Amino acid sequence: MQNFVFHNPTKIIFGRKTVPSVGSETAALGQKAMLVYGQSSIKTSGLYEQVMNSLAEAGVTVVEHGGARSNPLLDHVRQGIAKAKQEKVDVLIAVGGGSVIDTAKAIAAGSVVEHDVWKFFIGKKSIKAALPVVTVLTLAAAGSEMNSGMVITNQETQEKFGFGHRLLYPKVSLLDPEVTFTVPPDYTAYGAVDAIAHVLEFYMTTEDADTPVQARLMEGLIQNAMASCERCLVDPRDYGGRANLMWTATLALNGLTGAGLGRVGFPMHMIEHALSALYDVPHGAGLSVVMPGWLQWYKEQDAARIAQLGRALLPLNTLEEIQGPQRNDLALAERTIDFLRAWFSKVNSPVTLAELDIPTEDIPRIADNALGLAKVWRLDQYTPEIIRDILQRCV
Ligand code: NZQ
Ligand code: ZN
Repeated sequence: MQNFVFHNPTKIIFGRKTVPSVGSETAALGQKAMLVYGQSSIKTSGLYEQVMNSLAEAGVTVVEHGGARSNPLLDHVRQGIAKAKQEKVDVLIAVGGGSVIDTAKAIAAGSVVEHDVWKFFIGKKSIKAALPVVTVLTLAAAGSEMNSGMVITNQETQEKFGFGHRLLYPKVSLLDPEVTFTVPPDYTAYGAVDAIAHVLEFYMTTEDADTPVQARLMEGLIQNAMASCERCLVDPRDYGGRANLMWTATLALNGLTGAGLGRVGFPMHMIEHALSALYDVPHGAGLSVVMPGWLQWYKEQDAARIAQLGRALLPLNTLEEIQGPQRNDLALAERTIDFLRAWFSKVNSPVTLAELDIPTEDIPRIADNALGLAKVWRLDQYTPEIIRDILQRCV
């Protein structure tokens, strides 16, 4: 177990009928709010009206900034910053999924400085202040509702970069599982895949093997992500399924799983962000393609770690068939990767570049794009050859 400081300042208000407290929670942080949201889902679902009524009752003035896209764009963030400065907003409210929350976080950080917000993402400037952010989560996936991260795509340079700072934690996040009843099957699955990836990044890249507390927590989160996703695909209005998936996705990337693991990385995300930057692939769909490929590459370095995950995930009869009298980590690692890949296919999340209509000949271009983020994230071991090798295992 490595030394760590675990300090997550986000207040979570979880459960049915929690959305109406968005007004009072926001009024405690500011008087003029910028409401950030996506394309149309919050208006179709009636959530927009609920939020606006609550804000009006609390006496909060609202400036809207809708139109955040999946894989949110820097231009839209810059427009939001200009509007926030002009209107002198003093609090941000994000009603949506990770793309909307990250847009709000970037506006919160960018609207209190004179330089371009992108400088934060390329390490040229550090954050010294940020407006408070309140979120109403509408999609169980990214975990942005309870973490300090944000991911934005610079469409000019085709870079999708992530950046984190402790001032970016939302002050309050409202998580009402009923709000996710309207999430379609594809994004329900992509969200579960993203949560599984957030856990696997830490599970596989920690250099401290003696961390059973975190390992059992992470194995449990993966089991829950799978089981609750399947419940939601059977019945989109299964409150328990939606509640378990929502809390699993939040816990998968709020710092708890990583506490005590020491140095960890996001190599699978580093590669996936290139797919989303270049082809606008939904984040989770990109991850279900990259994860099996990365694991196949990683199996040659640490089959035992993947086999350990297999002992937590695979059915007993499969374990007995493979294990037999003596341990066979390589065989078990192989079956674990197959198990994950088969589950991604089962929930209709793609598992090959071909399923994403990405031609194999694009691999060098994708690797070059991923390399840019590898440098910013200091993933120094990932050379162009290694990234190409991993991508070749995803075709
Ligand atoms: O735009 P609208 O109309 O709202 O539709 C959205 C969007 O099309 C729809 N949706 C959201 N809530 C819904 C709903 N549809 C029906 N009912 C609802 N209740 O779902 C689509 C996807 O939304 P999006 O916010 O893009 O999905 P997600 O939450 O998966 O966020 C993905 C973004 O999060 C970033 C990713 O890179 C990607 O840009 N991430 C952020 C992280 C962080 N801040 O810590 C970490 C993650 O690894 C991830 O990188
Ligand atoms: Zn992710």
